[in-house]
This record gives sequence, C-alpha cells and structure tokens, in this order.
Amino acid sequence: LRGVVALDGPSGTGKTTVARKLAERLDAGYLDTGAMYRAVTLAALRAGVDVGDPDAVIAVAESADLGVGTDPDQPVVVLDEEDVGEQIRGAEVTSAVSAVAAVPHVREMLVEVQRAIIDDVVDELGGIVVEGRDIGTVVAPDAALKVYLTASAEVRAGRRSAQDTASGRQADVEDVQAAVERRDSLDAGRAADPMRPAADAEELDTSDLELEQVIAALVELAAA
Ligand code: CDP
Repeated sequence: LRGVVALDGPSGTGKTTVARKLAERLDAGYLDTGAMYRAVTLAALRAGVDVGDPDAVIAVAESADLGVGTDPDQPVVVLDEEDVGEQIRGAEVTSAVSAVAAVPHVREMLVEVQRAIIDDVVDELGGIVVEGRDIGTVVAPDAALKVYLTASAEVRAGRRSAQDTASGRQADVEDVQAAVERRDSLDAGRAADPMRPAADAEELDTSDLELEQVIAALVELAAA
C-alpha cells in the first residue's frame, strides 16, 4: 500500500493495537494522533492550567516541545525532552483530554504537525497508518484507505478496562464505561471536527471479532 491508511473511531475499539499491527504488516509507519492531544493535556495539567480556559491551553500548546515517534514497534511520545508514554495514559489526562481537543486552535496546530509527519513518512517508507478521530475527515481526506472502527459500548468498556488493568491502573469496568461514554459524547458533540466517520470510510464493527480477524479484514481492504 502507498499513502495513508486513516483509522478512526472511538475509544476501546482496539484502534491502537490494530493500527500498530497493521503498520507492521504493511511495512508502514504509524502515527497516534490521540497521543499528541494527550501530551498537550499533560503539559496543561503540569502547568496548573484550567483546561476549560482555551487561551491558557493554547499558550501551553504553543510552548510545549512535543515529539512523536512513527515506528509501530516503539511509538515514543516525548514532552519537553521527557518520555511521557506512560503518564499520558493516566486517568487525569484521560478525563481532561476532550476539553483540550475541543479547542479549535489546538486542533489546527496539531493537524499541521500531523500532516508534516505524514508527508515525511510517506516520502521515506511509502505508507503510514494514522489513528485518531478526524483522520479521514480532516487530517488526510485523500487517504488511500479510510476505516472507521466501532464496537458496542459494553465491549469497548471491557477492552479499555482490561488494557488499564494490564498497565497496572485500577479499572472498575462500570467506571470505565461511564468515562468512555462521557468522552465519546464530548468528542462527538464538539463544534470543531467532531468525531464521525468520513462519508467514504469503511465501517468495521469489531464487537465480535478477534484482533487477528480485524487485521485480516484490513489487510484485505488495503490490498483491494
Ligand atoms: O486511546 P483512546 O481511543 O482512548 O484515546 P486517544 O486516541 O488517545 O485520544 C484521546 C482523545 O484525544 C480523544 O478522546 C479525543 O478527545 C482526542 N483526539 C482528537 O480529538 N482527535 C484525534 N485525531 C485523536 C484524538
């Protein structure tokens, strides 16, 4: 495959695991755009900024020194020269990230960086799998393949809480489901680039699929 695979969808659909495995399978690069919104959120929390104050969030985003790796084997996220791969997955960041991602100027800044990274990786490797919420609609509307992953709310909460437990975080499945639903509704309801499938995206419901079945379906789509 040449060009961009846009992999969008809400939390708990398996997007990250699927995107990384697919990138490996295709010998492509990988970009986690959610990690970028999370890193800006971490920077805001560290600066003691109210994430409901857009001007303050913008100031943080402008001064933060953000780096993201594009190797699917080792997708590092660096903030001000520190590896923050773990911290950006914590509950504080997770509950504040939708507010940060709703600030239009923050989105503009990150989308510009994302497009530059995508162009570089496509030049170098020929292809990249990009995961997020607005890749097919905004970041890469000309993507070679657009997939929108879905799954039932119960399945998504179950996957997310298993993931949290595996990473050593406390995760009651009902709390996780409430948090996932709250974030979905904020992400889908925001004015700027709301989470929704692109008109030309293939929708894939992963509720009853094993990881390998999802990958196989995507490899097939990428080859078509
Ligand atoms: O891993 P999970 O699906 O839970 O979330 P994520 O992909 O790390 O994204 C975290 C948050 O960043 C989302 O809830 C959105 O608010 C925001 N986001 C976005 O607005 N646009 C993107 N392209 C990616 C993430």
